[in-house]
Order: sequence, then C-alpha cells, then structure tokens
Amino acid sequence: MAKETKRILVIGAVGQIGSELTPALREKYGRDNVIALGRKSAPPKELAEGGPFEFADAADKEALRTIIKKYDIDTVYHLASLLSATGEKDPDAAWNINMVSLKNVLDLAREYEMARIFWPSSIAAFGPSTPRGNTPQKTILEPSTMYGVTKVAGELLMNYYNKKFGIDTRSIRYPGLISWKTPPGGGTTDYAVAIFYEAIKQKKYTCFLKEGTYLPMMYMPDAIKGTMQLMEAPSEKIKNRFSYNFAAISFAPEHVAAEIKKHIPEFTCDYAPDFRQSIADSWPKSINDSCAREEWGWKHEYDLEKMAADMLENLGRVLK
Ligand code: SER
Repeated sequence: MAKETKRILVIGAVGQIGSELTPALREKYGRDNVIALGRKSAPPKELAEGGPFEFADAADKEALRTIIKKYDIDTVYHLASLLSATGEKDPDAAWNINMVSLKNVLDLAREYEMARIFWPSSIAAFGPSTPRGNTPQKTILEPSTMYGVTKVAGELLMNYYNKKFGIDTRSIRYPGLISWKTPPGGGTTDYAVAIFYEAIKQKKYTCFLKEGTYLPMMYMPDAIKGTMQLMEAPSEKIKNRFSYNFAAISFAPEHVAAEIKKHIPEFTCDYAPDFRQSIADSWPKSINDSCAREEWGWKHEYDLEKMAADMLENLGRVLK
C-alpha cells in the first residue's frame, strides 16, 4: 500500500546519475526523506551534508534490508552499476553488481510492499543485430557486452516482478549521459565527458572512438528531469514495464570537438580507437523514443550547442 510521504532510497548515490538525482529528489521531497546509499566512495560534501547518507553493498541483501527497515523506505532508485567498458574487463563483477543487487531490491520491494522502483536500462541492451537508426521501442535485444546482458536480464526481471507481484517498476534506457559533477566512469560513451575535462586541462584530447561514430547522448539535467517525470507519472500511463527508449541528441566525436573549438579555439582532437570502438559499433546511432514522449510526456531541452556551453562553463569553474 502506497504511503502518503515518500521515503526514498537512492542506491549508487555517489555515481554519475546519483550525485545529481539525489539533490534533486531532496529538493522536491525533503532532505530527510531521501536516503543516499554509497558502497565505498566517500560522498562529496553536497551529498553528505544534504541529508542522510549510509554505506552498504546492494549485493548484500541483509545489509540492504537493514537500511530499508531503518528508514521505512517505500521508493527505490537503484542506480548502482558497472558500465560497459569496465564490465568487459571484469564480467563476473558486472553480473554481481548489476544483477544480484537488482534481484535483492525487487525481492525486498515485495517483502516490504514498496510503492515504486526505478532501475535504469541503457542503449547497451541493444546489439549488432538491432536496427541502428531511429531504433524502435520494441526490437531485437542481443547485446554483445556483459553490461548489455545485465540490462536485458534486468528489463525482463522488472517486467516480471510487475506482472507477477504487482510491483510498480519503472525504467528508462539511458543514452550516453554527459555531466560535470563526477569524472568519467568507465562507459563507452564517456569519451563525451572526458573530452571536456581534457579540453579545459590540456587543450587537446585523444578520443578512443573514431570519427563518424554516432551515438545517442543526453545532458544530465534532461536525464534527471525525465527520470523524475517517469516516476511521478500516474501508474496507468506506464504501459511499458520493461524499459522505455529515451533520447535527446545524437552526434559523433568530431561534432562535440567542433563545438568545443568554438569556445576554446586552440583545442585539438585526434583519434586512437581501442576495444571500446566495437562496443560503440554494436549500439544504435539514434533512438526512437516516441512511446516515452506520448505516454508520459517526455521532452528534452538541451541540444549539442547548449549542452557544450553549459559543460564548459561549469567544468571551467570546478577545475580552476
Ligand atoms: N554510458 C553507458 C556506457 O557507455 C551506456 O549506458 O557504458
């Protein structure tokens, strides 16, 4: 039974999404109603001082249960995950961190009759056999990375727990997310974060993907807005309990390099593709997210130009 006041747990609060979603949730629902959970990294000041912060490994079900009981949690944003490139270096760890923890969250959601569960899927759920342009909502899901395997399995699990046990599960397939609050974190799309750091610090960047590699991308403020919008939408609007395609912009490395050059004229970018190139080549170039737009009103705001200007301004300030 849903309670009046939301008691929210953010798992992976120190990660790329969590470090921006947690403050946004605290702003909306009250600082003491949003509990940030980290695994081992010390939280930045904003998170530690902005409300309750706890440490636990979400793959440890009893540790998670203790936190859920202590704070009477009814809503979970489960964001802890190893990304695509890191996952290829240690597939076992990717399975444990990504899957065991999700099963724990869903089982505890059942046991404690939680109101709503958010868990992110990704463009990595797609694979080389998926149509790569304007990729439809319902399509072939045959990923080639362990990260992608965990995303497909997770989507199936989210839908299963909704249909079988009535849990209000909600999910988004995030594109590459670009943000400045955390350093790049082991994803294939993270060149589009690293390039800004290096442009400011070194005025040059060597990209691990080659020119012409289009990937779907999004600026973090849009991702946060869309995530909260999905979680606020009335249940009857959420027709898809696997995961929603979710898109904003699509570009290749040379496009973001050219955009940076407008602000930093001496900036240069060269290209030395590594193992991440084949991961990128197995993912869509652009995504059709009309279901998200029609069913719960998703709309992005940032294009490449606006995103790059905002990234450079914020990172320029932080890296000074
Ligand atoms: N950003 C992720 C990655 O590159 C995709 O979800 O791994």
